[in-house]
Amino acid sequence: MGVWHGEFRHRRLVEVYDAVCVWSREDDFFVSVVGETPAARVPDLGCGTGRLTLALAGAGHADTGVDPARASLDAAQAKPGAERVTWLEGTARSLPTTDFDVATMTAHVAQFLLADEDWRATLHDLYRCLVPGGRLIFDSRDPHAREWERWNPHHSRRTVELADGSMVETWVDVTSSASTAGGVASRSVPETASCSSLRVGHASEAPGRREQAAS
Ligand SMILES: C[S@@+](CC[C@H](N)C(=O)[O-])C[C@H]1O[C@@H](n2cnc3c(N)ncnc32)[C@H](O)[C@@H]1O
Repeated sequence: MGVWHGEFRHRRLVEVYDAVCVWSREDDFFVSVVGETPAARVPDLGCGTGRLTLALAGAGHADTGVDPARASLDAAQAKPGAERVTWLEGTARSLPTTDFDVATMTAHVAQFLLADEDWRATLHDLYRCLVPGGRLIFDSRDPHAREWERWNPHHSRRTVELADGSMVETWVDVTSSASTAGGVASRSVPETASCSSLRVGHASEAPGRREQAAS
């Protein structure tokens, strides 16, 4: 299910991900919306290296970080505060049928589910584990920002410092594309992301770019 990107599955590339994808105002948005439910039980689907997962746990939420990429989970579990989180290797299918309050999918995890049936199955699995009235909060790229115009070596090349002090040059290069479409009502629209919050009802049916790094 989904796309298995090397950047989440290789220890060295995961270190680069952490250096490139630092805390942003989208994370502030997620923290504030989850915070509307005090001490929420939160499955963070596609938690990656746990940037937001750990922050939510630190804010007093009962967080479960779920991701299919072992190397990303290993990095998350090595971070301070990791013992406060339940970590699960897998996808939404791996989530226990529990009374979770708020599910999160941050940094456009939703857009890793390219096929309609994968997205539908993920929504069904999240629906299964959320309490009635629970929420799913997720974001997606905003097409109006036309970010893909900067997904080339010229605009994206930069040097980042990894946690061990080594310097790595990174850039983005589009090598293929797939045609996908979708749309959701947005609650808040920062420049590059569109964040949405869905509520789960009682009776209703739940409903390529390549990054490169060289050191
Ligand atoms: C861009 S990263 C976002 C990571 C993290 N949420 C963050 O804010 O940094 C996308 C994550 O989605 C995960 N992923 C890919 N396919 C998935 C799937 N089918 N179910 C859950 N997670 C998936 C990847 O392994 C990766 O960790």
